[in-house]
Formats: sequence, structure tokens, C-alpha cells
Amino acid sequence: MAAIEFLDLGKKYGKVRSVRKLTASITEGKITGLLGPNGAGKSTSLRCLLGLAKPTSGEAKILGVHYKELKNPLTQIGAVLDSRGFHGGLTGKQNLKVMAAAAKIPDARVDEVLKLVDLEAAANKKAKGYSLGMKQRLSLAGALLGNPKVLILDEPANGLDPIGIAWLRGFLRTLANEGKTILVSSHQLAEMQSTVDDVIIINHGMLMAQGSMKEIIGEGTLEDAFLKLTAGGAR
Ligand SMILES: Nc1ncnc2c1ncn2[C@@H]1O[C@H](COP(=O)(O)OP(=O)(O)OP(=O)(O)O)[C@@H](O)[C@H]1O
Ligand SMILES: [Mg+2]
Repeated sequence: MAAIEFLDLGKKYGKVRSVRKLTASITEGKITGLLGPNGAGKSTSLRCLLGLAKPTSGEAKILGVHYKELKNPLTQIGAVLDSRGFHGGLTGKQNLKVMAAAAKIPDARVDEVLKLVDLEAAANKKAKGYSLGMKQRLSLAGALLGNPKVLILDEPANGLDPIGIAWLRGFLRTLANEGKTILVSSHQLAEMQSTVDDVIIINHGMLMAQGSMKEIIGEGTLEDAFLKLTAGGAR
């Protein structure tokens, strides 16, 4: 079953057509990479999906409905669009407790998610002292508070060092093995090749290809496939 569907989604900002007639679906229990170069429309598509931007045409659905129609959205969808949304003066744990209280999630879950993201040792340090990798993990912890079925991550590997990237890869795979559906955007093709099951490639807001990694790359690399698909420009 499709956990997420983009149906003829279009989004214009003034004259800029960020997303054009995007139709794609994300299978439950898989890690799907939403891939495309800078400005391809990845973040805009995800923002439409999460009800943070209003589509100009078409629609995007999660678990069969629009985001705003979800009951208890935090228990259905966890999302990380950027990792700057924390209160620097509070500790990691305090930040999560505030989020949990707002969503009526018991405090015990805060300790669970801190453990899941390997942040227990730094839980009582102020978030402003966290490294980028620690901030990313704190964001992931926040997204997991409601134990959601679906995770949506915009460029979670950005700025991470090789250890952080390897950790993230293993982490996402563990979550997918537990049955979670993960949609992760990136422009880092080599990294995505070893992380995701399925691929959606967009360029200039348009769908270039969708399929399993094997279908898309054959015996080559994701970078080869991507360059072939985008050769000659998409416009
Ligand atoms: N709020 C906005 N107002 C005006 N234009 C926007 C806005 N958000 C995005 N755009 C434009 O829409 C296009 C797609 O941007 P988007 O951020 O979705 O791309 P992206 O694939 O996420 O890129 P990146 O890899 O750099 O994050 C770009 O041309 C961008 O300038
Ligand atoms: Mg983006």
C-alpha cells in the first residue's frame, strides 16, 4: 500500500514553478529517497505534504488523507525539515520534554527516544553546545516521540561527518525493519545509493524517474542514472 502519495502536485511561488505535476507514491515499510539537485523542489514537495505550504494544484496525501485531516498527527508522522528548531538554553532532554508535554506524550518516552538516537550521554547538556550531528539526532528524537508510522526527513545527512552518515544509515534501516515508512530527501547520490530501497528523482520540479534502486540504476551507479536522466536539461 502507498503510505504517501503525490497526485499531480504543483506549487508556484510567483512565477517560479517549484513543483510541476508531481505524481509519485511511497510504499509502506520502505526507505524511499526523494532525490534531485539544489532547487529541484524536494523541500517544497515535503512542505506541501506536511501542510506547511499550500499546493497550487493537485495534492499530497499521507496514509490516505491530507496532513491536516490526520488524527493525532505526531503518532502518525514524524518529520524533520531542519534541525534548528530547538531552544538552545535548554538541555536536549528538556527540549524533548517540552515537545512531549505539548503532545501529551508521557515523559518516559523522552528517555526512550534519547536512547534510540544515542544521545543519553549528552541529554543534560544545553542544546546550544551540541554539534551538528547531535542536533540532527535530537531532531530525530523529537520526530520519534509519538512513535509514528511514517518519518519524513529533509536532507538529514547534510553536514554530517562519515561517522554520522554511517550511523544515520544504520538507524534508518533499523526503523524500516520495524515496519516504519521513511521518505528522505537528499542530493547526495552516492550516499543514497547505499541507504534507500526506492528512488524518486526530480529535477526542475518534475518527476524524472521512480522505481526500486535496482530498476533505476541497473548495474551502474545512482549518479550515472541521474546524469543520464537529467542530460540535456529537464525544461
Ligand atoms: N518560499 C519560497 N518562496 C519563493 N520561492 C521558493 C520558496 N521556496 C522554494 N522556492 C523556490 O522553489 C524552487 C524549489 O526549491 P526547494 O527548496 O523546494 O528545492 P530543493 O530541492 O529542496 O533544493 P535544495 O537541495 O537546495 O534544498 C527553487 O527555485 C526555490 O528558489
Ligand atoms: Mg531543500
